[in-house]
Amino acid sequence: MDKILVRGGNRLKGEIVISGAKNAALPAMAASLLTSDKVTISNVPQLGDVKTASKLLGEIGVIVENKKPNVLEIDSSDLNRNEVPYELVKTMRASCLLLAPLLVRCGEVRLSLPGGCAIGERPINLHIKGLEAMGAKIRLEHGYIIASANRLVGNRVYFDTSSVTGTENIMMAAVLAEGETAIENAAKEPEIGCLANMLRSMGAKIEGDGTDTIKIQGVSSLSGCRHTIIPDRIETGTFMVAAAITGGELLLKDTVPQHSEALIVKLRELGVEVEEKGSSILVRGNGEHRSVDISTSPYPGFPTDMQAQFMALLTTAQGSAVVTENVFENRFMHVAEMKRMGADIKVKGKSAFVKGVKELSGAPLMATDLRASASLILAALAANGESTISRVYHLDRGYERIEEKLLRVGANIERLK
Ligand code: EPU
Repeated sequence: MDKILVRGGNRLKGEIVISGAKNAALPAMAASLLTSDKVTISNVPQLGDVKTASKLLGEIGVIVENKKPNVLEIDSSDLNRNEVPYELVKTMRASCLLLAPLLVRCGEVRLSLPGGCAIGERPINLHIKGLEAMGAKIRLEHGYIIASANRLVGNRVYFDTSSVTGTENIMMAAVLAEGETAIENAAKEPEIGCLANMLRSMGAKIEGDGTDTIKIQGVSSLSGCRHTIIPDRIETGTFMVAAAITGGELLLKDTVPQHSEALIVKLRELGVEVEEKGSSILVRGNGEHRSVDISTSPYPGFPTDMQAQFMALLTTAQGSAVVTENVFENRFMHVAEMKRMGADIKVKGKSAFVKGVKELSGAPLMATDLRASASLILAALAANGESTISRVYHLDRGYERIEEKLLRVGANIERLK
């Protein structure tokens, strides 16, 4: 299995072009099943989860072509299966995004119930409750959810907890339902807006995306479209921290600075210079930063997907900080690895108390999930000496050519096959 070797201590300097957002590309691929016309999606990042999603679509009779880099052409006119098996759901939880599109397209869907994962229990009860409110009959059998409906009927769908993929599933169910659906306490993440734009260009009637209430008027059919995926705000954030942690200077291009506002505010509080310039962000670290507390929450709050990377930065900050994780109940798996590098962190319940140390020291490290892997690479870039990060497949699931991008701006990083 591949490993990543990092020799820490280099200041990063240069430009990095940001890729398309993984968490916007996956729902767009699922939404392509809502029409039998051809759908073309651009700015799709080439990463593990997109490959898994392409394979999944292939298994149900959908043709996914990748003739040009970062462009997918999806033709689901011969879709011939309505089952999403355990083998695929267990490798990628976002497979649950096929629940609504397959139900709408086939009248019935069999989706393996995802189990718990490295960052928490992650149930999909709210997706199910929403579909039931729209008239779907749902039962659980042998670990599979079996949902059926003739045509869904619009209704008021209230989310007890804001859920990103839950909101996306209900949006995809509502666009072809009879009448109006109002999704209340809807997720407001930029990926929701990206999906709404795609659905609108297919002919859907959607208002209010980006606010607490999304209203959708069902239509009788949708057509093919061309759609472009938004830039990845978490990749952007990861490289912002890379500049800060190495005391370097990076210009991140082709991104949307407004999507990273919570992180930008925190980086400035910490003493890092951040300039927003149109679709670019310039980040300048000076090698010294103060501790600041962070507390994760749904967008526009501080993203849980940036918590581990920001913690890497806090390990060498001046002073102490409290990191509170409010979205997932088990997202501190990176702490044990950071402690092996000399970090001073204590976890109590949903908070981690981080006391800055003078320096981290390189060590053999093990990644446990996608964002934890990224945080270990960041810590290793700043550490004294060599680190090897194993279980790199986690990283490859969600970052496009990360070590290549870091190498070009001066990191001493290589992939060991
Ligand atoms: N929740 C429920 N019931 C549900 C759905 C969610 O209790 O039916 C809870 C979850 O357990 C969690 C909270 O609601 O405590 C929020 O979870 P959400 O449903 O928003 O997460 P998700 O849709 O499964 C997406 C991203 C994650 C990201 C979260 C939060 C995709 C494909 N995944 O997951 O991305 O962390 O939103 O922003 O969009 C990642 O990219 O590394 C990643 C994990």
